[in-house]
Amino acid sequence: MGQDTITEARRALMNMIFGSMASQVVSACVRLGVADPLGEAELCTPEVASTCGTPVGTTRRLLRAATALGLAVDRGGDRFALTPMGAMLRSGGEGSPHTFARVFTDPVMVRPWHRLDEAVIGDRTTFEDEFGVPFFDHLKTAPDLAAAFNAAMSQGTHLAAAALPEAYDFGRFGAVMDVGGGDGTLRATGVASRCAVRTGDFFTSFPGGVDAILLKSVLHDWDDERATTILGHCRQALPDHGRLLVVEPVLPEAVADALSPVVYLSDLNMPVNVGGRERTRAEFETLLSGNGFTVDDVIPLPPSGFCLIEATCS
Ligand SMILES: C[S@@+](CC[C@H](N)C(=O)[O-])C[C@H]1O[C@@H](n2cnc3c(N)ncnc32)[C@H](O)[C@@H]1O
Repeated sequence: MGQDTITEARRALMNMIFGSMASQVVSACVRLGVADPLGEAELCTPEVASTCGTPVGTTRRLLRAATALGLAVDRGGDRFALTPMGAMLRSGGEGSPHTFARVFTDPVMVRPWHRLDEAVIGDRTTFEDEFGVPFFDHLKTAPDLAAAFNAAMSQGTHLAAAALPEAYDFGRFGAVMDVGGGDGTLRATGVASRCAVRTGDFFTSFPGGVDAILLKSVLHDWDDERATTILGHCRQALPDHGRLLVVEPVLPEAVADALSPVVYLSDLNMPVNVGGRERTRAEFETLLSGNGFTVDDVIPLPPSGFCLIEATCS
């Protein structure tokens, strides 16, 4: 191995070793609202510090780290501006990763990651070890985090919601049920006025009378056994001509084909925090065929990173 290769490998490894600190720089920028005053403008450190109510010295160091990480540019003379990536950390942008950053760098989500090795070995989430209850039960007692989690899901869902009507003809159905619909973002694209909202536990049962069931980012929260219970209720609720529409990331068969490591980190976030798993097309086919469905099509929904898996009742 040449010296250049060794130097490059070491640099890449150090970036990974310090990666959790990099993500906390993102977290601090979001929590302190650093990106908001910068906006489209170029500001000096005391101006940012004054708006955020933070000391000038440490604010400068935060801005320098953010700059080194590509979130901002140093314009000289203690003046900084946001890059397009940094601008995504401003609050309020529909579909922007701002709230996603807030939730996925939250200590509640990050603490169980410090025990990833145990999650790899063990058979229950390290979240449960840390907090004593499963993730979604914890959310019931943490309204602020629950609101932020729903908002984060919503930000991730906006792109899929925008792509869905183009990718798939929903007009063929009389009624569609969005199970585990979070804050309803998927329905916010023009059909909210025709919706009824019901609360319930999808492990118990859910209502019928629909032609299609939509499950977005639900199955991946659960292992095959729990997913089987949800799918069993879906099958009972659907008529024989019904359709199951699953919107989730679909893992490529080979890691080399992956577009981003995020999909694999999300897959590991499941045994750490939630308990489920991301799945390949073959794994979806096996799971669905064991529960009364046949996968007919897998339709990518760019640029969302999600696919629409269409299944008919078998
Ligand atoms: C990852 S979120 C997905 C939300 C939404 N479908 C989206 O993609 O934006 C999973 C959803 O499942 C809901 N959920 C979790 N456990 C549930 C249960 N036992 N019964 C009904 N919904 C549940 C959560 O409240 C949350 O809204």
